[in-house]
Amino acid sequence: MPCLFKMTPDGTSQYSEFGHLYLIKMWALFFGALIIISIAHWIYRWRNPICNGTLPPGSMGLPFIGETLQFFAPDTSCDIHPFVRDRMKRYGPIFRTNLVGRPVVVSTDPDLNYFIFQQEGKLFQSWYPDTFTEIFGRQNVGSLHGFMYKYLKNMVLNLFGPESLKKMLPEVEQTASKRLQLWSHHESVELKEATATMIFDLTAKKLISYDQENSSENLRDNFVAFIQGLISFPLDIPGTAYHECLQGRKKAMRMLKNLLQERRANPRKHESDFFDYMLEELQKEKTILTEEIALDLMFVLLFASFETTSLALTSAVKFLSDNPLVLNKLTEEHEIILRNRGNANPGLTWKEYKSMKFTFQVINETVRLANIVPGIFRKTLREIHFKGYTIPAGWAVMVCPPAVHLNPAKYDDPLAFNPWRWKGTELNGASKNFMAFGGGMRFCVGTEFTKVQMAVFLHCLVTKSRWKPIKGGNIVRTPGLQYPSGYHIQLTERANI
Ligand code: HEM
Ligand SMILES: *[C@@H]1O[C@H](CO)[C@@H](O)[C@H](O)[C@H]1NC(C)=O
Ligand SMILES: *[C@@H]1O[C@H](CO)[C@@H](O)[C@H](O)[C@H]1NC(C)=O
Repeated sequence: MPCLFKMTPDGTSQYSEFGHLYLIKMWALFFGALIIISIAHWIYRWRNPICNGTLPPGSMGLPFIGETLQFFAPDTSCDIHPFVRDRMKRYGPIFRTNLVGRPVVVSTDPDLNYFIFQQEGKLFQSWYPDTFTEIFGRQNVGSLHGFMYKYLKNMVLNLFGPESLKKMLPEVEQTASKRLQLWSHHESVELKEATATMIFDLTAKKLISYDQENSSENLRDNFVAFIQGLISFPLDIPGTAYHECLQGRKKAMRMLKNLLQERRANPRKHESDFFDYMLEELQKEKTILTEEIALDLMFVLLFASFETTSLALTSAVKFLSDNPLVLNKLTEEHEIILRNRGNANPGLTWKEYKSMKFTFQVINETVRLANIVPGIFRKTLREIHFKGYTIPAGWAVMVCPPAVHLNPAKYDDPLAFNPWRWKGTELNGASKNFMAFGGGMRFCVGTEFTKVQMAVFLHCLVTKSRWKPIKGGNIVRTPGLQYPSGYHIQLTERANI
């Protein structure tokens, strides 16, 4: 090819002037055509990925970005996000799309959802978008699979098992009471932030015996910086939210590391928190746990627990404000508990907690309607055949709980906040129509802990205070995540009953 332009020393071209130009044109045409054909082919492949069967219907969107922009379009209704709703209407319950260059199959089909949860680790594996992996740390994503994941899960289950929760009851009650009292001295309280701080303190105390009052640095502040950048464009230069996010994580990790080292220097006789378990495991000779993985996991646990629970509490208060009949019935249930207790004031007992029937219905209804986790992500490990469709190996799959929770065929008048609909369902156990806490092997290990925190908080809220909303109350939703846009309430203490 280089010889094409080579001149001989006497100045005459090896090719005639005409031939020279002609050749250049031919080559240009040839390359141009080649490029256009490759682009066309690439776009064709983008739209029609290779598959040994019938792909679920759907559109792969624009080259590179797919349908990412539509996916992240905010919506403030309680209903199924328009992105999912429109495509369900057009393509049916299972459809394909493309998010940040990744082919994704979205499932709103209860049978496929069930199948995905049952086949965890065999045909499917948990998967989170690459930016999440970057942010949460690469180690922990790997650590959540297989053996490693199993024994870490056991540690968590130990910490949040029934015996542990029984012991926690007084602590949760005291914390909730104290917070409510504190809030009553403020003109207005931004509820999500306020409950997040409360839940964070409770969880951090339980997991790592972290006490804000005894610490010079504020662990929670670093989490705040972290969260604010989570829904941002991944551009890591100073000044961007994403940069702050990574910095927040870095600082939080450094604090966790210091705390772990402190504990290592002053070991305790009986294991009582997550650090104790970790240290014991790290000292074993043949362990595959590294300090790095342990700290990553710690970070994820803290994050997974207070973000979800605080959104659930915020939603509960909002739903109660909007539905006075429910609030009355709930207040009555808790006043009866206090009345039956008589004059003695030993604090909530486990028996009283277990008797809060209506409260548990309120909690179920809250997490159903709030859809705290709007999308659960998986990756296919092998080619999947389901209901006539084929999902190629390596594709992402998104289970969409809102489509299940807001299905009018399963929930009458699905957008209504109606805790009574749960009456008499206690016997059914896990169900294809309720997946607020996931399902199958990866079912949320914090479910019971969440229920304790919510029930006890609601107990204190309705018996000790009155409140009125003053501003906000929208929850901003995307199919992948959601956050409240500033719900302010004014709270007053209630005379003793
Ligand atoms: C309203 C509160 C909560 C909701 C709605 C919620 C929801 C969920 C969901 C949907 C999953 C399944 C994720 C998946 O399958 O990929 C999950 C898993 C998990 N949750 Fe929660 N969660 C809540 C509270 C908590 C709390 C308080 C903790 C901490 C103790 C916690 C710890 C975890 C952990 C460790 C997992 C991973 C379990 C596994 O992969 O096996 N969650 N949660
Ligand atoms: C924090 O300090 C108080 C008072 O000094 C002490 O009683 C409590 O045990 C400390 N908490 C932790 C987690 O060290
Ligand atoms: C809440 O939902 C779960 C899952 O369907 C069910 O097992 C539980 O009994 C429900 N609780 C109440 C009080 O209805």
